[in-house]
Amino acid sequence: MKIFKTKSNLIHYLSLYGQKKSIGFVPTMGALHSGHLALVEASKADCDLTVASIYVNPTQFNNANDFKKYPKTLNYDLEKLQKLDCDIVYAPLNNDLYNEEEKAKNFDFGTLSINMEGKFRPGHFNGMATVIEKFFNIINPTKAYFGEKDLQQLQIVKMLVIQMQSQIKIVGIPTIREKNGLAKSSRNKLLSNNGRKKASLIFNCLNYCRVNKRQGIHKLKEYIQHRFKEEDINLEYCEIINSKNMLPIKRWREKNENAICIAAKVEEVRLIDNIIL
Ligand code: PAJ
Repeated sequence: MKIFKTKSNLIHYLSLYGQKKSIGFVPTMGALHSGHLALVEASKADCDLTVASIYVNPTQFNNANDFKKYPKTLNYDLEKLQKLDCDIVYAPLNNDLYNEEEKAKNFDFGTLSINMEGKFRPGHFNGMATVIEKFFNIINPTKAYFGEKDLQQLQIVKMLVIQMQSQIKIVGIPTIREKNGLAKSSRNKLLSNNGRKKASLIFNCLNYCRVNKRQGIHKLKEYIQHRFKEEDINLEYCEIINSKNMLPIKRWREKNENAICIAAKVEEVRLIDNIIL
């Protein structure tokens, strides 16, 4: 496994690699868990060369404390990637990607970024897309792998490649979960055992909606709001949306075009999850 700290070395190395070979790219912010590793495995299965990046991107954090608290476990992460036989890791320092004082670019993702994470984390998607565009330009992968756990991010990245007029194929990978249903997340490390238990309510509610889809959107939303109140967990939002444009819906659409998205805070740790129905 080769580790690069600078884009110039990485670009040079990739330029020597055969033009006809496929490159799979897995961007991450580190603190790797089996969710991230599923993306790396998918890339390894699909592509000739797999590049993973580890970089906690400052421009996508709208909360300085969240950025400071974000777990950083680089050596541990490298071990995990090595075990999977990941080919290349790009773990840049800040000044390799951003000039001093550089801010996020302003993108227009239409309806995709209006609600949910776009609303509750102002500037988040501009920061995310800024760094992903930089990575795409440096690596120019054949395919890039993103988790369905961050559904809004996945849809926005699909639009980003269209806006970049790029041929990169964006592949969505289903959410990997803990035994109790809680979606794997680097932030889970910040929860106590009891917090993890409490946080399983998120998946329990999503699953309830899957089983009881017939009850209709209004009733299901009410159910979720009620359950979070009952368990005294801070529900930031619960939206039932059209997964194509990420706007709320009143009636179910075709199978797999509906998603239920939840953001909640447990022990001050912000967690998001969704299921596609
Ligand atoms: P991060 O939260 O580290 O996630 C990296 C990738 O792993 C994302 O595509 C995310 O959706 C995916 N992922 C996270 N948890 C998952 C799970 N339980 N199952 C499946 N996939 C999962 O998302 C980011 O980093 C950043 O915004 C990034 C894209 C790297 C840009 O900075």
